[in-house]
This record gives sequence, C-alpha cells and structure tokens, in this order.
Amino acid sequence: MCGIVGVLGNHEAAPILVEALKRLEYRGYDSAGIATVHNGHLDRRRAVGKLVNLSDLLVHEPLAGKAGIGHTRWATHGAPSVTNAHPHKAGPVAVVHNGIIENFRELRTALSAKGYDFVTQTDTETVALLAQSHVEAGLSPVDAAVATIDALEGAFALCFLFDGEEDLLIAARKGSPLAIGHGQGENFVGSDAIALAQMTDQVTYLDEGDRAVITRESVSIFDATGAQVQRERRTIAMDAARIEKAGHKHFMAKEIAEQPTVIAEALSYYLSQDGADITLPNPGLDFTQYDRVVMVACGTAFYACYTAKYWFEQVARLPVEIDVASEFRYREPPVSANTLAIFVSQSGETADTLAALRYMKGKAKTILSVVNVAESSIARESDIALPILAGVEVGVASTKAFSCQLTVLALLALKAARTRGEISAETLAARLSDLRTLPGLLTRALDLDETLNAVSNELSEAKDVLFLGRGAMFPLALEGALKLKEISYIHAEGYASGELKHGPIALIDSHTPVIVFAPHDALFDKTVSNMQEVMARGGKVLLVSDKKGLEVAREGVWQTVQMPEVPDLFAPILYAIPAQLIAYHTAVAKGTDVDQPRNLAKSVTVE
Ligand code: F6R
Repeated sequence: MCGIVGVLGNHEAAPILVEALKRLEYRGYDSAGIATVHNGHLDRRRAVGKLVNLSDLLVHEPLAGKAGIGHTRWATHGAPSVTNAHPHKAGPVAVVHNGIIENFRELRTALSAKGYDFVTQTDTETVALLAQSHVEAGLSPVDAAVATIDALEGAFALCFLFDGEEDLLIAARKGSPLAIGHGQGENFVGSDAIALAQMTDQVTYLDEGDRAVITRESVSIFDATGAQVQRERRTIAMDAARIEKAGHKHFMAKEIAEQPTVIAEALSYYLSQDGADITLPNPGLDFTQYDRVVMVACGTAFYACYTAKYWFEQVARLPVEIDVASEFRYREPPVSANTLAIFVSQSGETADTLAALRYMKGKAKTILSVVNVAESSIARESDIALPILAGVEVGVASTKAFSCQLTVLALLALKAARTRGEISAETLAARLSDLRTLPGLLTRALDLDETLNAVSNELSEAKDVLFLGRGAMFPLALEGALKLKEISYIHAEGYASGELKHGPIALIDSHTPVIVFAPHDALFDKTVSNMQEVMARGGKVLLVSDKKGLEVAREGVWQTVQMPEVPDLFAPILYAIPAQLIAYHTAVAKGTDVDQPRNLAKSVTVE
C-alpha cells in the first residue's frame, strides 16, 4: 500500500526521496510524488505509474531543497491520476498519507462551507485543507498539524511539510505504521525501516496515536493526549543484500530460491539442541489450557492457516476454526474462554487481521501471532508473537513467507500434540527428524525449475486453470490458484478434488488445464479417481506427484512433474515450490510485472 518518506537532510532531498520510494515500491502503488521546501518555497512533482516517470519528470523539472516528503500511492479514494497523487498541497501545507480518513466527507462539507475548494477526489486533500485552514486562523505549523490530526478519524500515517519551514516535519501514526530514522544532524521518516535502509540503521517506531515534531537536531514525540513520551530507539539489522535481487531476474524468483535456507533457519530457531523437541521462545504457551483454536488471516496467510487446520486436528486432536479476517471481524463469532486465537500475517500490518485480533482481545485465553515483521502492530498487540524468520519479502506475491508460516504452524501443531499427550516423545522426535529433511527436499524441488518453466510456457496460453488437491493439499490448490491469478492474470480456481463433481466439473474442456497436487499418500487413490473423471471428459491434467504416484497414474496425463518423496505430513510445504514456480514462469511468459502485479499491494493497511 502507500509508502511515505520524509527527509530533513544536509544534501539535496529529491534524489534521496526517490531512492527511498524505490525501496517502498514493493508495497504496490500506481502513482508517486515528492515535495520539497527551497528558499522558503514549497513545491511538488507528481507522476502516474512507475517511479521512473517521476524520475523523468524531475530531470526536466528538478526540485531543489534539503527538506522534503515523498509518497507512493495505491489508490483508494479517486483514480490513479496526477491530480489525486500525493503530496497534496493546500496553501502553505503539503501532506503525504497512508490509510483512510473515515470522516473526510464531514470535514469536506465543513471546509467547503468555509469557502475552501477541493480539486481532487481523495480523502487526503481534506487533511491538507484542514491544516491550511488552521494556519490561516493563526496557528503555528506545529499547532495546525496537531489540530488537524486531532480532528481525523480512521487509520492513517501522515507526514506534513510547510512553506517557509526548511527544518520541520510533523509525523503522525494511527493505525498505519511509521518509523523515524535518526542520522547525524539529519532525520528521516519512513513507512517502514526498509525505506530508511540507506540513510540510517537507527530507528524509532511511533506507537498508536503518536505525533512527532522533527527537526534536523531533534525528535520530540507526543502521545494522543499531547504528553511528551520517549519511544525506544532501535538499531535495525539492515542487511542491504537481503533486499537486492542477488542476481535473480525478480524478487519473487530470489525469494522462491531462498526457501531451503530460510526454513532451515526457522527450524534451527525453534528446535532444541538435540533436534528432538520444540522450544518456543515464550514459555507462556501451554497447549493443555485450550479446547479450541481459532485461526484468522488473509490471502496466502489464510491458506497457511487452512493447511494448519489439518495438522492441528489430525495430530493434536484440537478443533480448529479458520476464517478470513475481513469476514471474521464482522460476524461477531462467540468465543469460548479456553480458545487459543492465532493470527498469521507476513507484514503484521494487515488492517482486517489486526481488527480481528483486537476483537479477540479479552475474549480468547491467548492471542498468538505468527509474523514475519517482528516490529509490526500485530506482533506488538499479541500475547505471544512467533517469528517466521523469512527475512524481508519484497515480491508482492508471498512465497517464502508462506512456507515459513507453514513450518512454524507445523511445529506448533506438533508441540500441541506432544503437550496434550497425543503423540509420544519418540514420535515427536521422528516427526522433527522428518522436518529436518525439508530444506534438502526443497532444494531438489527447486531443481525442477526448467521442467516447470517448459510446462508454464504452455499454461500461459490458457484462459482458465483449475487446481485440485485433497486433504492438506486442498489449501495448497487454493494457494496455487491465487498465486497464478495474482501474477499472471489468468483466471484460476482451486477445488477439493472430491468436490469437483458437485459442480465445477462442468468447467472441464480440452482448453482448461487442471493441475493436480497428489503425493503418493493415503488419499492418493481417491485423488487419482477424481483426476480420471477429469480426463474422461477431455480435460488435460498436469499431475504433480512423486515417483510412486507417477508409476501408478501417469497414463493419459497431459504433463507430469516428478517431485521428491516427502513425509506425508509436510508435503504441502514441499509442493508449494511447484505451485510458486508454475505461477512465476507463467507470469514471466506472459510478460506481466511479476514483483508488482497490477492493482495489488504488499501490505494491505485498509479494510
Ligand atoms: C498473496 C499475498 C496476499 C497476502 C495477504 C495477507 O500472494 O501475498 O494474499 O497473503 O494480503 O498479507 P499479510 O500476510 O501481510 O497479512
């Protein structure tokens, strides 16, 4: 979603702002802009589309000045256009905004009544005009910004810049994260630490409701009541290499390839020294206390929950309810006292997931989150936050975060099973020994890259693709379909194989590839029967299975992909690789923007 940067520096701000915005590109955007103050004069440049358009504009119409703000916009109110792009400027005020101002219509009506004219369709312009009205009423820039922030409802991160003020930025956070970067005689603002990576590794995250008054020499933070507060300054591990493509054509390719390494890291973090037990960083999680688990997330993270439902129920015998956060938060589900609520999120900032978490506070016995971004709101608002240790994920389509989420959830399910006496210490040790083989198996699955590339070239011609799976491979079928549609723009659906004949089989024809994930496990024969039903109706099947499975079922199949054999329980983690590589190569064959697919944002901070 939208990205914010602010600079009070000792060098020209424009190149620094554009560079920082580049680091925020991964969040998804459709226009961008910057504003600076130079010789007391506030000016701005904005462009639709990729940042290169803004850079080109700046070549022809440069912006001087060492103080500035910048923004990448993901449209919510008003189409992507230069007029609607940020920074929004009203009189002496420029502002950049991430989030949604819910009461903007009321504010707009009141400002219109006072004679202020609106030229955009955005909620953000209201913020700029309100601040202008306060300045014109005689307030100082700081007081005008604070009075404006106080009047706003909704979720937002904001950064203000004022005409005539070359040493002042005002930042505010309510619902959308914002960080301040501390330099030597210069200070910065960024939506996340990644934006600040090339400027500083000293970062302070604003808390909910905080406002910060920033100059080159000082940062003063006030809470929502106006009381001055101290927030922890942290040194962030800015391993710049981890946010480069490292020789890959796309971040997504790099992140798919990283999976053996990051999963090995996650395993070594959670496994005891002898590898026979699971050590959770927080001892407060006692699985004998719970009689039910509720898991809530969005998108790919939801499919990780869906997979984990099979594990928790089959191995730990704990009933699990799952839901997408956008539905869960409004359906007012009753919650029994002995519920463990688990929220899964790569970014830790997804607005619906955060709202669902807040709904569960005081109702569930424990709020547990499984997150990638350790400093995120979801992590901070949980009783226990378990890191997935995937490292920075830049590609909008989630890959390594998904497999790391699965790994951590598998460990949790095994821990629950052992604690509840459902499995012996020996069985746990055996399952963990299985799990430790995963990085090696993932590496072998990555060797299928060329085969999957060839298959994907053919898939790229398709208009519709179906994915089938049974048991824990069903959520993977859903994830495979999501991955394919989001980056290749080919329509795809995932179905439980057994459900096909209850309707979707009507879609089968010789033009619709059907991708079947079927390791040779206890459910294999059932899945193969469903696959035969597809082939009997002229459907062309791509069967992803192992040596044993292909020996039995390859006849009449359009294409096969032979996977390494994998212990049954962990097959969804291994089979995520072909699901991801199929989507990736199909998108490359279609020439889409793989890392920043149209209309999508990496961190969805609006509902
Ligand atoms: C799909 C994808 C999204 C996210 C979803 C939740 O590839 O990345 O579906 O999984 O927006 O995001 P997080 O995990 O940040 O809460």
